[in-house]
Amino acid sequence: MENGGEAKWRFGAGNPAVQASGRQSLRALVTRVFDCVDRNDPRPVAPLGHGDPSAFACFRTAAAAEEAVSAAALSGKHNRYSSAGGVLEARSAVAAYLSRELPYELSTGDVVVTAGCNHAIEIMMAVLASPGANVLLPRPGYPMYESRAALCGLEFRRFDLLPEKEWEVDLDGVEALADENTVAMVIVNPNNPCGCVYSYDHLAKIAETARKLGIMVISDEVYDHCAFGSKPFVPMGVFGEIAPVVTIGGISKRWMVPGWRLGWIAATDPKGVLRDKNVLESIMSYCAISVDAVTFVQGALPQIIANTDKAFFEKAMDVMREAAEICYRKVGGIECITCPHKPEGSMFVMVKLDLSCLDGIADDVDFCTQVAREESVVICPGTVLHTSSMFSTFRVAILSKFHPKHIASGLIQNIGIMTSKKECNGDNSPADSKSTVAQL
Ligand SMILES: Cc1ncc(COP(=O)(O)O)c(C=O)c1O
Repeated sequence: MENGGEAKWRFGAGNPAVQASGRQSLRALVTRVFDCVDRNDPRPVAPLGHGDPSAFACFRTAAAAEEAVSAAALSGKHNRYSSAGGVLEARSAVAAYLSRELPYELSTGDVVVTAGCNHAIEIMMAVLASPGANVLLPRPGYPMYESRAALCGLEFRRFDLLPEKEWEVDLDGVEALADENTVAMVIVNPNNPCGCVYSYDHLAKIAETARKLGIMVISDEVYDHCAFGSKPFVPMGVFGEIAPVVTIGGISKRWMVPGWRLGWIAATDPKGVLRDKNVLESIMSYCAISVDAVTFVQGALPQIIANTDKAFFEKAMDVMREAAEICYRKVGGIECITCPHKPEGSMFVMVKLDLSCLDGIADDVDFCTQVAREESVVICPGTVLHTSSMFSTFRVAILSKFHPKHIASGLIQNIGIMTSKKECNGDNSPADSKSTVAQL
């Protein structure tokens, strides 16, 4: 075995899928952008690259939620291992929470508690990964779906969200992509990264399409109720009679506590198709070999839901509505960037970038790293969100108007400064890089 006294190690970090998924993850790319910030810049860094509201003082979670967690921790009653799929009180609290807006009642057995919504994605992709199966994912989209599908060898195909139609799902595209091996389509509503909220009618059409194709809908509702525009949030489970729906969600966004790692999977499927097809059984099997949500946060969940008053949610929506408004207005005033649709929900705005008008910027990653370097503003390049190759984009988290002061407006102003236009009048000479500030 030994070679001249030198041990011969046979191993290496050998799974290329793990390395590729990690390198191409949203977290890795936003960290790369973040690392470009000039540490000597005295301005505070604006962390608008990912959706973590807890980074902003104005989004501190409800006092009732903090009290519930600390009471659960201090009670000494929640120190044991969780049962697979979550403790019963937490599962039944989620069932009751979701049932409030459904035309039928969920039972405790319809819900499993997960360690955040990302864990729910992991579970669903693994459960669906039978040999030859494929799933349909939205583009632009939340990249965890691709990463998780790739890791478990599940084929994925991307359907488009249509910017000119308020980022609705291209349902003709969905039908064209599906074949006899397609098992599910994923929607994200309210939508990350596009900031849209789907109407009742559009959700009904999605359900009809799923029924026609014989597939389930996985509805990612981690931004449930983060709707501050004209359309109310409607849960996809409302259409569970038409096609089986797996609803995934959690408290990370609505309660603004992503670090508490509490999410769920619910079979919003009144006809019991998911049960008949053993999908629920398979989810439970995965839970048996998986990590669990922290038990004292599960123990606190019934009180978190029951004791958080409406005013907390309303205040958060007021801040986001105003930040979205400012962002949209300011983007509209700058050439080279456009916002196809005014954000109405989630925590993001998608901005199209016309690279042909920008001097010396190679792509969206280059653009975002320069904004970080020069302006200490961290935004997310659209590449990682799998925007169609037709256009470049970046995503801004519309999370703050207070800290740093009026950041949404400040960010766009900074982009304006960077937008060193090659005048679109045929003169390709770079304009004065500060000149576009005058547009603001
Ligand atoms: C669409 C979407 N799904 C799931 C998640 C993950 O949620 P959690 O933090 O609960 O794991 C996120 C987080 O940003 C998200 O944007």
